[in-house]
Amino acid sequence: MNIIKNKPKLYLETYGCQMNVADSEVVVSIMNDNGFVITNNLSEADIVFINTCSIRENAEKRVRARLDVFRQQKKKKPELLIGIIGCMAERLKEKLIEEEKSVDIIIGPDAYRNLPNLISIAESGQKAINVILSQEETYAEINPVRLGQNKISAFVSIMRGCDNFCSYCVVPYTRGRERSRNPQTILNEIKNLINNGYKEVTLLGQNIDKYKWENKENNEVINFVQLLEKVALLEPSMRVRFSTPFPKDMTDEVLFTITKYDNICKCIHLPVQSGSSEVLKKMKRGYSREWYMDRIKAIWEIIPECSITTDIITGFCSETEDDHKKTLSLMKWAKYDFAYMFKYSERPDTYAQKKLGDDIPDETKSRRLTEIIELQNKLSKESNEKDIGKVFEVLIEGLSKRSNEFFSGRNSQNKVIVFPKENYKIGGYVNVKVTDCTSATLKGEVLV
Ligand code: 5AD
Ligand code: SF4
Repeated sequence: MNIIKNKPKLYLETYGCQMNVADSEVVVSIMNDNGFVITNNLSEADIVFINTCSIRENAEKRVRARLDVFRQQKKKKPELLIGIIGCMAERLKEKLIEEEKSVDIIIGPDAYRNLPNLISIAESGQKAINVILSQEETYAEINPVRLGQNKISAFVSIMRGCDNFCSYCVVPYTRGRERSRNPQTILNEIKNLINNGYKEVTLLGQNIDKYKWENKENNEVINFVQLLEKVALLEPSMRVRFSTPFPKDMTDEVLFTITKYDNICKCIHLPVQSGSSEVLKKMKRGYSREWYMDRIKAIWEIIPECSITTDIITGFCSETEDDHKKTLSLMKWAKYDFAYMFKYSERPDTYAQKKLGDDIPDETKSRRLTEIIELQNKLSKESNEKDIGKVFEVLIEGLSKRSNEFFSGRNSQNKVIVFPKENYKIGGYVNVKVTDCTSATLKGEVLV
């Protein structure tokens, strides 16, 4: 106990995407190896890290608000070190230190191995910064320390960076060039999860269809389909999910692989962003409305039971009322089961910021977003109503949010199902018959 007591303590908060969650687990692994222990209690922390997101202005505002809180804590404990890590660190670099005087350390997403060094610099009273992006770094052999509450599902990063350069998006600038991780290290990490009782793994990459690893020794090339198969074959009771495919690159071969293995979940998140080909062109997405519809048709044909979810940006540069209507009509046609919906937020230094105008008034963006959200709620409700009477295999993840008498889990389609707890166990599988639903949740009873 004493040894733990004397170790310096890290308090870490994570914002943004699943990739950031995975990165935080790498960061904690590196920190543990260097003698730090994690704490959930800010007041006992010796160092605070905020793993940040830059995708929309709001994400950055949230981080700035948290910095106010950490600044107060530093007033009480002047030796406290504050580090900003991740996408916002990469985007703003030394500017962040100029703007936020309480910040001691700035580290971009490819520089985490350099953490111990940077902490030493900060401890000596200097500001420490490393925002160098790498062509190779994948943290391949680092064994992440799992931070999730449930010890059932985990994220595994299989590639980093993005080369798509969609015109609105900051990610290629904050996360650098696309690179794939050695498949053997991916498989080892997942075997480790299996041995530790995990039941679900989500493979992560910004554009997962582009995964490609060339073995220099025998010139053998492994693509995403081959990796997905290798992962699925490790353990039939381990569910496999992945995020995110890109409409331009998602092949039928991937879809056939999903049908081939029961443990590959039947849910595809295929971000459309807009239903208008003109807008898609301005977004530099590399596909048209028709191309995207063809990909959805392929999913329906090859995996009829598959759920389909998406991301939508509303109010992008020069988006007309007609473009907006095309998004609504595509949503109705695709009958999305779920969607993440956002107002366009202009990001500094992107193509859209430099060459196109953020010319849709905020009231129009808000009104269009409301229309999109209302339509999606209706579609989600309809999709859930269709499931009433069906039986799904559910992986039990924990207590339901509303009641300690109910468990909550998800089916292969990634829909949340709640059911009476009885004597079932977290981490187990049960067959649940759906009896009722809302637009967000299915309710049911376990079949025995
Ligand atoms: N404004 C609003 N939403 C954005 N996204 C990415 N960049 C922006 C932006 N500048 C959304 C996209 C993407 C999701 C992760 O975030 O829909 O798929
Ligand atoms: Fe993730 Fe993109 Fe946000 Fe970076 S900017 S944390 S890649 S969502």
